[in-house]
Amino acid sequence: MTATTPPITVPGDKSIAHRALMLAALARGTSRLRNVPAGLDVLSTQRALRALGVTIAREGDEVVVSGSGGALVAPDTPIDCGNSGTTIRLLAGVLATRGLTVTLDGDGSLRARPMRRIAAPLAAFGTQIELSPRGTAPFIVHGNAHARGAEVEVVVPSAQVKSAVLFAALGAHGRSRVTGQLATRDHTERLFDAFGIACAADERGALVVDGPQTPQAADLYVPGDVSSAAFLLAAAAAVPGACAVVEDVGLNPTRIAFFDVLRRFGAEVEVRASDGGPEPRGRVAVRGAALHAIVIAPGEVPGLIDELPLIGVLGAFARGTTVVSGAAELRVKESDRIETFARAARAIGVELETFDDGFAVHGPARFHDGAIVTAGDHRIAMAFAVAGRAAEIAVLLDDPECVAVSFPNFTAALDCVA
Ligand code: S3P
Repeated sequence: MTATTPPITVPGDKSIAHRALMLAALARGTSRLRNVPAGLDVLSTQRALRALGVTIAREGDEVVVSGSGGALVAPDTPIDCGNSGTTIRLLAGVLATRGLTVTLDGDGSLRARPMRRIAAPLAAFGTQIELSPRGTAPFIVHGNAHARGAEVEVVVPSAQVKSAVLFAALGAHGRSRVTGQLATRDHTERLFDAFGIACAADERGALVVDGPQTPQAADLYVPGDVSSAAFLLAAAAAVPGACAVVEDVGLNPTRIAFFDVLRRFGAEVEVRASDGGPEPRGRVAVRGAALHAIVIAPGEVPGLIDELPLIGVLGAFARGTTVVSGAAELRVKESDRIETFARAARAIGVELETFDDGFAVHGPARFHDGAIVTAGDHRIAMAFAVAGRAAEIAVLLDDPECVAVSFPNFTAALDCVA
């Protein structure tokens, strides 16, 4: 593919940055992290770690973390995790096996999200988590400094749950074996290795951590967030002949299923890896085409979880019926993403049906201008900004600023898609 457009970069990967900051905070020594995104979610993690007594400074383009060696201190007031599910759930895991009592809280959206999914597996370490009556935040973590290694089955296909358990295993005494739904993004496993933590899969596929282990400080580059890049790539994919090139973007195999989805829709996709390291990265170019509908099978959902509303938007440009099923998890994201997606899609003329666990979009839509209720959900806002641009209709977002949790300069970046 001859790409004629100038390459775009996207903010550093949110998932990687949360984990790198937490590991650096627990480490012995000083870690230097480059390309840490300035989105509000990652700032929530930095604020939380500072509240636990960790020194974090920005020096030029580096975030410098003076590791605590595990000696965190409990703040007197609740820690506000903002809108960030990864912050609150992973931090609960970090705190589960330390001898502190800490209250974790968040904004209205985070307070509506399920937390039993972490409280139940962390109980295996003797940790008591007092949830609100609805099973949500705010909640109190009574960490157990004398936790013993545990056998824990992850029953929700969620990298946040898996990672909470792995972080808890770091502080426990003895062997922990983590089994169950482990085929989700593997940043925690990769970064454990980068920070000198031994964590290996045994012959039956369980993740094994012998605790306690203290991470060793590391210097790390955070590649661009492929889930943010997805919006720019989709904006090109939906318009025949349009082109987007994103460079320096993460190419972790557990995160790039969306590239194949774009190909199945009929777009041209070229991927060039430039760097290995714990988190591979490179350049992705997409050229748009007349799209045809695709079906996303339930087994694909964990690898596409953040891209599903965007796939729904692409379905509106594609000939035929695009179906997503097995995705009930969408109902407990920053918003109920089946409902918010459907309402927004209908507002611009898209015909679709919703199910308990997904949706079917009939394309190509006869788009018209419309006003979108984002429910403060960054991925809904970006998906429909993409729809507006690709369909050349006026899309009025009720809360365009909500993109700041993951992609503060999104609007300017979208303008670079030619
Ligand atoms: C994330 C995992 C996903 C994803 C979220 C970030 C992570 O959530 O939706 O944006 O960093 O582990 P689940 O693991 O709950 O599916």
